[in-house]
Amino acid sequence: MPFPETFLTELTERSDIVDVVSGYVRLTKRSGANLFGLCPFHSEKTPSFSVSPDKQIYHCFGCGKGGGVINFIMEIENLSFPEAVEFLAKRAGMTLPEETEDRESRRRSRMFALNKDAARFFYEQLSTPAGAAAKDYMKRRRIGPATAKNFGLGFAPGTWDSLVRAMRAKGYSDQELFDAGLVRRGKSGGFYDTFRNRLMFPVIDVRGNVIGFSGRILGDGEPKYMNSPETLVFNKSRNLFALNLAKKSKSGYIILAEGNIDVVSMHQAGFDSAVASLGTSLTPEQARLLSRYTNEVILAYDNDGAGKKAAQRAIGILEKLDLKVRVLAMSGAKDPDEYIQAKGAAAFRNLLEGSEDQVDYRLRQVLDKYDLSQDAQKVAFLKEATRLVARLPGAAEREVYAMRVASLAGVAADVVKAEVARLHKQNVRRAQTEAERQQSRPGHLAEAPGRIRYEDEASGKAEEGVLRVLLLDSALASDPSLPPAEDFTVPALRHIYTEVLARLRSGGEISPATLGGVLSAEEMSLLVALQDTPLTAANSERALKDYIHKIYECKELRQKPSSPEELLELQRKLRERKGY
Ligand code: UTP
Ligand code: MN
Repeated sequence: MPFPETFLTELTERSDIVDVVSGYVRLTKRSGANLFGLCPFHSEKTPSFSVSPDKQIYHCFGCGKGGGVINFIMEIENLSFPEAVEFLAKRAGMTLPEETEDRESRRRSRMFALNKDAARFFYEQLSTPAGAAAKDYMKRRRIGPATAKNFGLGFAPGTWDSLVRAMRAKGYSDQELFDAGLVRRGKSGGFYDTFRNRLMFPVIDVRGNVIGFSGRILGDGEPKYMNSPETLVFNKSRNLFALNLAKKSKSGYIILAEGNIDVVSMHQAGFDSAVASLGTSLTPEQARLLSRYTNEVILAYDNDGAGKKAAQRAIGILEKLDLKVRVLAMSGAKDPDEYIQAKGAAAFRNLLEGSEDQVDYRLRQVLDKYDLSQDAQKVAFLKEATRLVARLPGAAEREVYAMRVASLAGVAADVVKAEVARLHKQNVRRAQTEAERQQSRPGHLAEAPGRIRYEDEASGKAEEGVLRVLLLDSALASDPSLPPAEDFTVPALRHIYTEVLARLRSGGEISPATLGGVLSAEEMSLLVALQDTPLTAANSERALKDYIHKIYECKELRQKPSSPEELLELQRKLRERKGY
């Protein structure tokens, strides 16, 4: 453990979960010991987010997220475990123990330093003779030197080891280079540069740390981009390219594009709030990150089928966070870069100012699909458009857009309004039944949305059971019949089991604070959900035996006996097992 356990215990004692969560969520008391509120991690209308002052944990029955106070801060502030500890320590007025400059955070700061040195190396290469090719390429793409400097663009030479050698000379070990994803291991065991002959885009987080790289080939070729792998400091789904620059913009909105080149080009043209997701489609984490810096996002995705699909998906994710979303209606260019190159910054500014409200945008997408001069298609259009309008949350909004749809189709407004009202009611009813269904079985992991599907359901359930019993009755951790962790089929449960057993067997405690550092957010959520699931068995020892038996049974079944003899053998084995 990077932080001493005593420190973590004191920290969590001084950071009451109700106080901390109340800073983000309005909690109200219902019956029972728990407090409830609207979950900050998914969008919902009825509160399914509960906080237990006794257990000092939170748990959302809707999305399944859960954990202790440190997990809550990690999740909501988008921080790593050590960062969240630091955050809470500051809040509680505690100073971090000296030892917290622990191995992991030392490794992180070394990696930041290495990445920064690598970025500097790539940047310097631009002024060498070898860098001429990259400079030429930038000239062709009309990326000026000031922009290159602003983004810290650089060039990775075509040789196999220029970065390796330069970084070794600065005192970094091969292992450190490898961990940072900057080198790869060759067949003969040596290391070679990951990025070769590429235009380099450093990815910089909002705190100014270089966390990874994206390298574009100069010209045509595959793959067009190479990105740093996931490392200790680089997580593609939690960061956005150029957010370090965009967060300083005064524009009041953030422009979200697909390509690095688009972002660079927009900044160069004066649109300094452009960012891009790092080659992935927008993730909820990225959206949450955006929502910390703006309440309006303008989508400037590529003007092709894939771009439109990605935009639709992004709208859904952004809307959940109550962000205002507009969509750029680019025509005559495939992406923002091409648009700016072809028509200039002023034209792009007009486009931004006229960018459509996302409802208009979606309506137009629907409209584009149909030929309204044909009656059958007109009916199909009305059907799809009213469905879209019926899903809008505001009554006024539904009214306005119902009238718009009516006028587009040339039918009476009342007809469309009535249909929208009918569909809306139906949606509400459906949502209610769904909410009731979920509330009636809150502790039921199996039905919780977002829960991982188990490949072997029966075994997975039994593995959950073993853990639940252990969490309830820690004395059973010394039961010799407990299966080895390898027999757990669900990787998350296997990891939780390993950590829980290790702690219980060494006389330690199971607390969200101590486990938060070793379990992932998903695993932590799972653990909390398990603790929240009532265990009905009165005899925990008996229950444990049953679960263990089930795990073995499933294991044997998975080995798929094929012949009748094998089947008989299996039955015999199972009967024998029952004896223990
Ligand atoms: P694009 O192919 O649109 O790249 O991919 P671009 O940056 O706009 O470059 P140009 O204008 O075509 O030269 C969009 C983004 O998807 C990721 C990169 O982050 C890229 O900026 N990507 C693309 C990859 O990660 N790998 C690839 O092979 C291609
Ligand atoms: Mn592009």
